[in-house]
Amino acid sequence: MTDRGREWWKTGVIYQIYPRSFQDSDGDGVGDLAGIESRLDHLVDLGVDAVWISPFYPSPMADFGYDVSDYTGVDPLFGTLEDFERLIAAIHARGLKLLLDFVPSHSSDQHPWFQASRSARDDPKRDWYVWRDPAPDGGPPTNWIAEFGGSTWDWDDATEQYYLHSFLPEQPTINWRNPAARAAMLDAIRTWFDRGVDGFRVDAIEHAAPDPEKGDNPVDPDWDGGGGPARAHLGAASKHQPEVFRVVDEMRRLAERYDPPRLLVGEAYGRLEEVVRYYGAEGLHGFQLPFNFLLIGAEWDPRVIAGLVEAYEAALPEGAWPNWVLGNHDRHRIASRAGRAQAGVAATLLLTLRGTPTIYQGDELGMENVEIPPDRVQDPWEKRVPGQGLNRDQVRTPLAWDGTAHGGFTTGAPWLPMDLRPAVTVEAQRGDPASMLNLHRRLLRLRRAEPALTLGDYRTISVDDASFRFARSHGSRRIGVALNLSDRPRPVDLNGATLLSTTGDDALTGDLAPNEGRVVALD
Ligand code: GLC
Ligand code: MG
Repeated sequence: MTDRGREWWKTGVIYQIYPRSFQDSDGDGVGDLAGIESRLDHLVDLGVDAVWISPFYPSPMADFGYDVSDYTGVDPLFGTLEDFERLIAAIHARGLKLLLDFVPSHSSDQHPWFQASRSARDDPKRDWYVWRDPAPDGGPPTNWIAEFGGSTWDWDDATEQYYLHSFLPEQPTINWRNPAARAAMLDAIRTWFDRGVDGFRVDAIEHAAPDPEKGDNPVDPDWDGGGGPARAHLGAASKHQPEVFRVVDEMRRLAERYDPPRLLVGEAYGRLEEVVRYYGAEGLHGFQLPFNFLLIGAEWDPRVIAGLVEAYEAALPEGAWPNWVLGNHDRHRIASRAGRAQAGVAATLLLTLRGTPTIYQGDELGMENVEIPPDRVQDPWEKRVPGQGLNRDQVRTPLAWDGTAHGGFTTGAPWLPMDLRPAVTVEAQRGDPASMLNLHRRLLRLRRAEPALTLGDYRTISVDDASFRFARSHGSRRIGVALNLSDRPRPVDLNGATLLSTTGDDALTGDLAPNEGRVVALD
């Protein structure tokens, strides 16, 4: 795309809000738009640049908003369109950008489009979704397994065909190959752009145009049994299909019609070669930022991490801007994966690697997975495939703001149990110089002050079985980062003045303390 100077998102930091769990304003125990508006100062104080809000559109909430029944509205649970207008104005007034979450691959089964589609085989919207006759044996047309378990095909008694869904049966797959459906979806994007949003995070894009004509998916010979039953197959026929890249190309062309162009951050899980294709390949335009999930499930080991960073740097196409993610509303909390003591090292890594970081709500406080008693499970994935460690409720628990009842999140009963450790609230951490919150604030301030940390090159300096060092350079400025992933002291092996230490003592010199991350201005 044309070079229009430096885009904000290259130096910016994105913060993900899971709206059900950020701040409740009306006492129903579920966060909402007015709640977000009342807490924007936290984001300014933290020092992020953009907010991505997970879906708040009208939805039956079978998948907590990722089952959309109206692409351009606001669910009453979260507020009204007026609340949205106030929120976006308040966000822009603080100099922040706003990204929404677009869910292209499926709607809710309650969407009027699907209601029409399933009403009769000759309904004009029949082809807006993916319908097929049974296989010759009467079973589903292909062997595909849905992400949340079971066949991707559900039988419709009334019209005697199967319809496709890549996630829940309540999330029928939209047929992007149908021109009218395609136009309606692009129109929804346009509506939000016209309302002033600065971009979208685009959900589960690899599932946007499955191709049943290709037949069965092959078994994955390397599957280790993790990640849910769908992982048993490779997605040869159902994921990352050529049509998906044409859909992305159209979305990007639309985003480029605005000044400044709107940002598209794409969610696609896949092998590294598959993911980097979403930057644009074979003459098609891609996303500015296809999410890089290499670290979101990685073993917390310096050699593994250094290897992934190098592999990613090497795989990036010409001109592609990198990005990093350690957590989101679907995956285990970083402080639980890496361990409480390592949370500061993880934050240092996320905020000093080359590329746009996305911080998941609560990670700035070191929030951990919260155990969910069986009778309080809400996540449909956990309900369908119990006991495989996939329960996303654990990472979606409400944020605690202060030491009052329910952490100041709600005056009612929170929709999920909360982590109410007194030290894991915004208020408690604001006053503690060594807190995770203040570490994030210091790291973000340093990023802003040091172009080497945003625009600089990346180079690995050294890695061993306990620590990892790398350098970022821009012009004559060279900054070193040393991360101690172990609980014993390690040599720092960088010469220069300390700029930041996760211990809270930014003048620290000498060996790295156990679990320390240090940033140094290299001599
Ligand atoms: C994405 C979302 C996840 C959702 C799924 C289906 O992976 O992040 O929360 O369940 O897509 O829309
Ligand atoms: Mg509420």
